[in-house]
Amino acid sequence: MSKTFKIMLVAGARPNFMKIAPLVSAIKKFNKSINETRNLQLATCNFSSINYLLVHTGQHYDVAMSETFFRELELPNPDVNLEVGSGSHAVQAAEIMKKFEHVLMKEQPDVVIVVGDVNSTMACALVASKIVYPNNSLTHSHISRSLGRPLIAHVEAGLRSFDRTMPEEINRLVTDALSDLLFTPSGDADENLLREGIPINKIKRVGNIMIDTLINHLDKARQYRPYDRFGLEEKDYVFVTLHRPSNVDHERSIFHIMDCLINLSKKLPVIFPVHPRTRKNFIQFGVLEKSNSHKDLILSEPLGYHDTIGLIDKARFVLTDSGGVQEETTFLNIPCLTLRPNTERPITIKLGTNKLTSLENLDKDIEYILNGYSPIGKIPELWDGKTAERIVEILAKLQTK
Ligand code: UD1
Repeated sequence: MSKTFKIMLVAGARPNFMKIAPLVSAIKKFNKSINETRNLQLATCNFSSINYLLVHTGQHYDVAMSETFFRELELPNPDVNLEVGSGSHAVQAAEIMKKFEHVLMKEQPDVVIVVGDVNSTMACALVASKIVYPNNSLTHSHISRSLGRPLIAHVEAGLRSFDRTMPEEINRLVTDALSDLLFTPSGDADENLLREGIPINKIKRVGNIMIDTLINHLDKARQYRPYDRFGLEEKDYVFVTLHRPSNVDHERSIFHIMDCLINLSKKLPVIFPVHPRTRKNFIQFGVLEKSNSHKDLILSEPLGYHDTIGLIDKARFVLTDSGGVQEETTFLNIPCLTLRPNTERPITIKLGTNKLTSLENLDKDIEYILNGYSPIGKIPELWDGKTAERIVEILAKLQTK
């Protein structure tokens, strides 16, 4: 009997931390239940606990982009920080790969869990898929012994925007092609994977892990009333997040967006926490001078998790290009305009409160919402706060087989 079952959790960038936190809690809960029912469990479980290790690649490193989330989500300090920092896609991925290979060889986990679609997700999945463990190791579970490497599990698998100009779409395709277990949030994701020839037994629909975190922290976020701090009233402001290269890396689009936001702020205050990528471009293109004189267009530093959720929850509507925010607004039933030509999360349009918009239609779509349009959304199946528990159960069963 192997004594422990070793799982390595990988996180790198801001949206990963919300997806890792519920997994840590679910593993702790699982270990506690093994302890409490030791005799009973030993009959069915061939390991005494799940030993987890948290690896932070360091893709995001600012306090506001990383440390704040660890603190608020009560994540343990990473066991390893690769401290790769920023760089071009190739440099960033290569740095992660070089450093992650050492960590993987040293720790030799039975399972590597990657989440989401950032460069860290793809780079670590790639390393894990090619690593070869020494075959004399008796410490491995039967899973990694039979593979000769860790089992790769991707959480949030199967999402597709069908837009390969988006770096995240490449990350999704590569990660899913390499993963042994694909944990999906919705039926559309299952269909995408099946269409790509992924065997059905690798696909496990477990629900939306971000919603686990949202459900766990919503009460706290509501108690904080972050809008008070910005002098805003409930349902009387717009919450904006924009950081996609396609929106913020080009002078023409960034100026167009700012013109729309200035116009909007004359009707309804706007709170816009500015991502470091966006701020860099604001400075480069001289956008800040333009917005400074408009007091109801509030450009803040990037906000933590509780502030963000608290502000989304009481916004009149949200304008975003983030993937996660489309889901959070659907869950909270807040109208959402997504400034992108497509979304890898179509369920937020089909069932939820999301609507795609474009630079050309932005003014018109904003006006539409201001005139009272408010979609009635439904919460998709399995967005119920239990996704991480389902994942841990599936992995534990696999290990026990
Ligand atoms: C990354 C993800 C994107 C995700 C976003 C959330 C990829 C390809 N993109 O985009 O999917 O939606 O995170 O935030 O992985 N920077 C800082 N401090 C930091 C981190 C970044 O100043 O802590 C600046 C740097 O100038 C850096 C730039 O932001 O060059 C972009 O960072 P990067 O991690 O490359 O991509 P994001 O745009 O953050």
